[in-house]
Amino acid sequence: MMRKLLTLANKVLVRFNLVIVTTPQVLSVSSSSSPDSLLADLTEKVPVVPATAAPNNELFRLFSKEQNVHKWHHYFEIYERHFDRYRDRPIRMLEIGVAGGGSLRMWQKFFHPDSTIVGIDIDPSCLAHENADLGIQVRIGSQTDNGFLAAVNGELGPFDVILDDGSHHTSDQIASFGALFRTALNDGGCYIVEDTHTSYWSDWVDSLETFIEFSKRAVDLLHEPYVGRVGLEFWDGGAEALEEARLTYLSANLSCVSFYDSIVVFDKKARSLPRVELRQ
Ligand SMILES: C[S@@+](CC[C@H](N)C(=O)[O-])C[C@H]1O[C@@H](n2cnc3c(N)ncnc32)[C@H](O)[C@@H]1O
Repeated sequence: MMRKLLTLANKVLVRFNLVIVTTPQVLSVSSSSSPDSLLADLTEKVPVVPATAAPNNELFRLFSKEQNVHKWHHYFEIYERHFDRYRDRPIRMLEIGVAGGGSLRMWQKFFHPDSTIVGIDIDPSCLAHENADLGIQVRIGSQTDNGFLAAVNGELGPFDVILDDGSHHTSDQIASFGALFRTALNDGGCYIVEDTHTSYWSDWVDSLETFIEFSKRAVDLLHEPYVGRVGLEFWDGGAEALEEARLTYLSANLSCVSFYDSIVVFDKKARSLPRVELRQ
């Protein structure tokens, strides 16, 4: 009864930018029940076997015919899941880390033939893998050099897909994401960082937080609209109260963060404030 009254009162108050906030009801967990004991079945160690079967998809078949390309097998299913929607039109892709050039050739065959595939690398010998006739461009510079990244973006971007397969150092992964997500990635595009298992290898962790920890904060930002607000503000009529709302750029332009074994994918999409409706 009390909650119903509160709900009714808030429906009126929300029109005047006011709401009554009550202490949230939370599940109480007795102190003797640690999370591990509650999840005993899920935290038990069970046997696993090494992967044997190769992925069965088109991209892996292209990979198998290529030389000088270096990818973990389990990435292929993830690539296809996220990249399929970009295949029916020419796109611009940026891959950080060229090495032997095989991945640039693989992407060129996988995406629309009129696409532009751009690779960047600090190693000048990677220029040998440029093939302008096929739309493969290579530029030499560091993924941590903002001026260089801006020049590449100005010349060949903005991009629909950005894939970080560069140094794999956590500070570089964070720096490149910071430099590229806002200005160099199109709305509707995706930013993929691979080999994020380096967040668990001390030789690669050279930042205050690992790339995985940084990415978990992006999950919090997805929920930024709800911080300091109550559900009623998102109801019909509550929308006016949200008109002046401002969100962090990353929050306002992020539709999804997908975590996989060693890959994090950020889908970029300008979003509106969420709205909820009860239809009776
Ligand atoms: C794992 S290899 C790339 C493999 C390639 N993408 C493939 O799939 O076969 C990593 C590459 O990143 C380059 N690299 C290392 N540090 C870099 C940096 N700070 N900026 C740009 N490239 C970097 C290395 O020179 C190396 O060629």
